[in-house]
Amino acid sequence: ERPKHYNEIFEIHNELLIRSKQDLFANTGRHALEYMLKRGFDRQILDEFDIGYFPQNFDISFLRKKYSKNSLAATGLFYEYSGRLNFKFAGRLSFPIKDTMGNVIAFSGRALKDDVKPKYINSPTTDIFEKRKFLYNMDGARSEMKKEKTGIVVEGYIDVMRCSQAGIKNTVSPMGTSFTKEQAALLKRYCDDVILVFDGDFAGKKAAYRSLETFIDINFFPQVVFLPEEDDPDSLIKEKGVSAFLEKLESRKDLFVTYINNLSKYADSYQKKLKIIERIKSLLIKVKNPYLKDEYFAQTAKIFDLNEETLRKDIEFSSHKNT
Ligand code: UTP
Ligand code: MN
Ligand code: MN
Ligand code: MN
Ligand code: MN
Repeated sequence: ERPKHYNEIFEIHNELLIRSKQDLFANTGRHALEYMLKRGFDRQILDEFDIGYFPQNFDISFLRKKYSKNSLAATGLFYEYSGRLNFKFAGRLSFPIKDTMGNVIAFSGRALKDDVKPKYINSPTTDIFEKRKFLYNMDGARSEMKKEKTGIVVEGYIDVMRCSQAGIKNTVSPMGTSFTKEQAALLKRYCDDVILVFDGDFAGKKAAYRSLETFIDINFFPQVVFLPEEDDPDSLIKEKGVSAFLEKLESRKDLFVTYINNLSKYADSYQKKLKIIERIKSLLIKVKNPYLKDEYFAQTAKIFDLNEETLRKDIEFSSHKNT
């Protein structure tokens, strides 16, 4: 059963999208438009992603005239202050978030100065939006994903837009959440392969490794690319060109093997080594494809200098114990 305000919630999002696009290209939004042009985005890509601007003193009376307070509240886009509804995204650039069909279901608002915290404000969970179930730009990327059979996952909205402007259209973003099983399943419906290209910082690496089990659980095996420490896809393409990014993509590696390699760096005592092997075992048990499983066995044995037969027997024993 759909909530009473269901259609109105969609309508309100649409009205705000239209208004924010008008304001970006009007006098009110001049500094916001300049911000995006300065970052190297052209008008065409801003239009394609429906980027807009919400003025500082955003007057929502045009919405109050048409919609009930209840409907407006149900969008999650307002907060109440001394009995009045105020818009949460005022003074921010607007990044509309859409479902796979292209309906606007949420907004993210970016501050125009880098010292404003938080940098992005996102819609909360509502009747039509749950962050964990959607990927930013899934609507724009899905046809190219099907064609290429490959999806690229980057961290941020800006990364998606930069890739798209550079002609790489099969790119989506989990919008700052750690990758969820719903998002992994959504990707699997559209592509056979997925390449993770997160930020080059420690957080980006951690996010990539943390997503591994989520993917394994649905029998999906991502490839991964690590960027230079200070880069994200946006900065890399902007500073070094799309060819540098494509070169990086060429160097992609299997995420599981990369993870095993990374863990081996911490195996500096026998105790630690055994602990790490337990962790890898818990993932290996979940791999269903027998050929992939063989490959990961071989890699683990090689990287940790183990007897492959012993490892195999140990894991067979563990999986029987667990089922
Ligand atoms: P980043 O901090 O890497 O930002 O967050 P960014 O995408 O590179 O953005 P720019 O280049 O500084 O403009 C990656 C993603 O995490 C989410 C957003 O989805 C963002 O695109 N995020 C980040 C938030 O939701 N809130 C924040 O305050 C910061
Ligand atoms: Mn980051
Ligand atoms: Mn950052
Ligand atoms: Mn980033
Ligand atoms: Mn960035």
